[in-house]
Amino acid sequence: MANTKVNLCGITLDNPIIPASGTFGFGYEFAELYDINVLGTFSFKGTTLEPRFGNPTPRIAECASGMLNAVGLQNPGVDKVISEELPKLRRVFNKPVMANVSGFSIHEYVETVRRLDGEGDIGWFEVNISCPNVHGGGMSFGTSPEMAEQVTRAVRKVTDKPIIIKLSPNVTDIVSIAKACEAGGADGVSLINTLLGMRIDIKRRRPIIANKTGGFSGPAIKPVAVRMIYQVYEAVKIPIVGMGGARSAEDVIELMLAGATAVEIGAENLVNPYACRDIIEALPSVMEKYGINNLSEIIGGAH
Ligand SMILES: Cc1cc2nc3c(=O)[nH]c(=O)nc-3n(C[C@H](O)[C@H](O)[C@H](O)COP(=O)(O)O)c2cc1C
Repeated sequence: MANTKVNLCGITLDNPIIPASGTFGFGYEFAELYDINVLGTFSFKGTTLEPRFGNPTPRIAECASGMLNAVGLQNPGVDKVISEELPKLRRVFNKPVMANVSGFSIHEYVETVRRLDGEGDIGWFEVNISCPNVHGGGMSFGTSPEMAEQVTRAVRKVTDKPIIIKLSPNVTDIVSIAKACEAGGADGVSLINTLLGMRIDIKRRRPIIANKTGGFSGPAIKPVAVRMIYQVYEAVKIPIVGMGGARSAEDVIELMLAGATAVEIGAENLVNPYACRDIIEALPSVMEKYGINNLSEIIGGAH
């Protein structure tokens, strides 16, 4: 029997499949389509200290082999996530969930994590220092090793739960950022967030997205993700949550061979809302095809 279990920072997942933050809401929306308890876990929508309305529309543009988004961290704010979203999730999901948090200052990251820390069903914090779609925060923390280490150290002080720092691909040297997070006390890193991109409407002669630029994700970015996961795996000892363009069981195996312990699925959820369930169902036969009995044994297998 194929063993799909993996261990992510001390917590065993039934399989390595994790819907990526921003593409799976707070989970209960997808529970209307299938039993989301089949998932390894999922990462909920990026949560900030204050509620955020997000960016003006249009916020999405389709591209060949991917999509641009500039949602701008729309969320109801941490207090409403605790009082309204998590209780709805609890009714349909009985596994530890990954809490994705974002901020515009170190204080905001710390306070958001501190307030969420008391929620028993939160298994991991995924600290997003890489959002390209907000101004004055997000990605600026993820493009400097010093800032990345500072955020990591600050959130480390307010939680004993595993902290996974989500890295930006919009840097020349992702390895130095990953090492800084490890030095700051991170239990893991997740990569990659979206690549900064842009499209222009040739009839209007204006950017399609109201924010002008957006984050590019989907199948086209997979080779960038594989390269960065591979490089970071060689440089740090902490586990990697890999993502970027994955949409099949074969893609999951590819990212794991590069060095990922678990794999998040993002844009594909918007193409096929059953994508994660389908990948989980396909995994055992694909593992058999490639002679894999125990999925956790292939982590970093390409090195
Ligand atoms: C519509 C949309 C919203 C997103 N929102 C968030 C977010 O709130 N927080 C975050 O860390 N990443 C966010 N992301 C990035 C994804 O979690 C993921 O890192 C990225 O899309 C790459 O994976 P993919 O190619 O499988 O989509 C968002 C992506 C999309 C497409």
